[in-house]
Amino acid sequence: MTERKSIHGLWSGRLAFILAATGSAVGLGNIWKFPYITGENGGGAFVLFYLLCIAMIGIPIMMAEVMLGRRGRQNPIATMQTLSLEEGASSNWKWLGVMGVITGMMILSYYSVIAGWALSYFFEATTGVFNGITAKESADHFGSLVGSWDTLLGWHTMFMGLTLYVVSKGVRGGLEKAVTVLMPALFILLLVMVGYAMQTDSFQKGLSFLFTPDFSKLTKESALIAMGHAFFTLSLGMGAIMAYGAYLPKNVSIAGAGISIALADTAVALLAGMAIFPIVFANGLEPSSGPGLIFTTLPIAFGQMPYGNIFASIFFLLLIFAAWSSAISLIEPAIAWLVEKTGVTRLRATALMGGATWLLGIGSILSFNVWSDATFIDKTFFDWMDYLTSNIMLPLGGLLIAVFAGWLMRKKSSQEELGLSGVLYGIWSFLVKYVAIIGVLIVMLKVSGAMDWAINLVSNG
Ligand code: PHE
Repeated sequence: MTERKSIHGLWSGRLAFILAATGSAVGLGNIWKFPYITGENGGGAFVLFYLLCIAMIGIPIMMAEVMLGRRGRQNPIATMQTLSLEEGASSNWKWLGVMGVITGMMILSYYSVIAGWALSYFFEATTGVFNGITAKESADHFGSLVGSWDTLLGWHTMFMGLTLYVVSKGVRGGLEKAVTVLMPALFILLLVMVGYAMQTDSFQKGLSFLFTPDFSKLTKESALIAMGHAFFTLSLGMGAIMAYGAYLPKNVSIAGAGISIALADTAVALLAGMAIFPIVFANGLEPSSGPGLIFTTLPIAFGQMPYGNIFASIFFLLLIFAAWSSAISLIEPAIAWLVEKTGVTRLRATALMGGATWLLGIGSILSFNVWSDATFIDKTFFDWMDYLTSNIMLPLGGLLIAVFAGWLMRKKSSQEELGLSGVLYGIWSFLVKYVAIIGVLIVMLKVSGAMDWAINLVSNG
């Protein structure tokens, strides 16, 4: 096959791609979401199941997504259209790209609200408000932030502004450079936090909460959340990684890159957990306290450290950058598509898609205050946005990617694009064609009850 060219150019090389994709993967998912859902779902068994999903489902699907992106070299919708034509599959596969674009905007709408919390905490940290803060004060502090919808709207608007600014300029240039410095810095700061956590008398307790599995706590629902989070944290199932794969030079090994990204992402999440849970237990806090977990616990630790306000400022600043590099990749597919499809300027496309996302975010803002009692089946608007995207749309997107890459794409094409042969290709192909697909299906069907219904039907004849 003669190679297609991306109109947006290519990454400067292997490392640039790995850093950008790691920038997309490492974000609020690792530092904000992983600890709080681990706390809500009982710890060890949940973590173990999550790690299993990363290894058996996440990595093979990551490779599939990068491979499709590099072969198509366009935005995810056009890539799916081109590849389906080439592989003799239905052109309806473009709808997979469309679902990804919508999913990305839905995620960004609430992601930006949470990143707004980090912005607020950053500015407060610089003024030293966390010095000597007690657990009760910290909880009240968080409560008063999320209780005020207009404050949240201000921060949400600021974060969307930052994101859209970069996206309107075109993603590659600045992103490559920023991520090179920020990712290692974030990593080091997390190590400092773990170092602090080691000095509390609850380090052991925190570790055993994270790593000692109690399988009676792994409900069907928890398993779905763990699997959904494996997609979320690796940025899979909505085309972000496909879009970045479109700029990947031909000679780079997709398997090597995919594994490196997954390892880095997992390391950050586990470090965040190791930093947070000891602090939670040392201060007698509730691991299952929900989305506010890191915002109520970390300030207590910072408040007790020497130079705590400096560490706190750096930490929240890095968290903002991690969220920023993820946010960009959440909306890039939507903008690339609108530009390629209608020929509007990048600036216009950004304003349109960004404006819609910003508006949708207001629903999540209100979920924490004015609409906090307006629930549908026990979930607020924010809860629904998160649940639908992480636990349904991303796994479904990932499943369809696996079906396309594993079953519809010719072996010759995938082998050529992955640059794998023999046993290695065999392992990838087995994981994508069977393990990933069946794994996602079982977890989703179990939760929906469809599985029990079908088993009953068969056994009752
Ligand atoms: N992976 C990002 C995080 O963990 C979130 C994300 C999801 C980014 C999907 C892009 C696509 O924070």
